Amino acid sequence: MNIAIDGPAGAGKSTIAKRLAAELGYVYVDTGAMYRAMAYYFLQNGIAAEDEEKIGAACGGVDVTIRYQDGEQRVILNGEDITGKIRTEEVGNMASATSVYPAVRTKLVELQRQLAKKADVIMDGRDIGTVVLPDAEVKIYLTASSKVRAKRRYDELVAKGEPCDMDTIERDIIERDERDKTRKVSPLRQADDAILLDTSALDIDGVVSKMKEIISARSQT
Ligand code: DC
Repeated sequence: MNIAIDGPAGAGKSTIAKRLAAELGYVYVDTGAMYRAMAYYFLQNGIAAEDEEKIGAACGGVDVTIRYQDGEQRVILNGEDITGKIRTEEVGNMASATSVYPAVRTKLVELQRQLAKKADVIMDGRDIGTVVLPDAEVKIYLTASSKVRAKRRYDELVAKGEPCDMDTIERDIIERDERDKTRKVSPLRQADDAILLDTSALDIDGVVSKMKEIISARSQT
C-alpha cells in the first residue's frame, strides 16, 4: 500500500509523514528533499533559476539518489551526502523556482516511482497524489493557514538559532504557494480522491491520530 501526502510549504507534511512511517512500518520518501538537492547543485554551480537551458543541460550530469540510514532518508548528490545542507530558505526558494522545469521533474518523478515500487511508502510532496502515484491507496492533502505555517517555520528556525523575521517568512510562504500552484507542469493541487485535512488548529499528535483514522478506514475498503 502507498500513501500520498501533498500540500503547501510548512503544512507539517514531513513531520507527520515521518511519524506515521515509523509507527506504521512504512518507508518515508521526502520528495521535496530531491528538488532541494537539484536546487543545491544549481546554486553551487552558479546556475540562475531563470536559465532553463542551462538547467536542462545540467540535469544530465546531476545524480540524485536516496539512501536509508537508521530509518532516516539521506539524499546523495553526485556521491556526496548533502542531507544536512538543503534545509535552508535559500535552497527551498530555489527548489520552488527550478521545480517548474520539465527536465527537473521528469528525472525526479522516475526516481520516486522506483522507490514506491520497492516498498510500501509514505511519500510527501506537491504532485504525489496527482502525478507520481495516481493509484496510491490513500491520498491526503494537508494544509494550514499561511499565518500558522509561517509561525511553525519561524519556531523551527529560532530553535536552530537562525536569524529570521516572521513577516518575511510568511511572505516567502505565500509566494512559494503561488508559484507551486500556478506552474504549468504538475502544479500543487488536491487530487480529486484525496482527503483534505486542515491542521491549523491541531498539534502533531492530533494530526497523526486523524491520519491514522483515515488510513485505517481506507485500508478496510
Ligand atoms: O516540501 P519542500 O519545502 O521541501 O519542497 C521544496 C520545493 O520543491 C517546493 O516549493 C516545490 C518543490 N517540490 C515539487 O515541486 N514537487 C514535489 N513533489 C516536492 C517539492
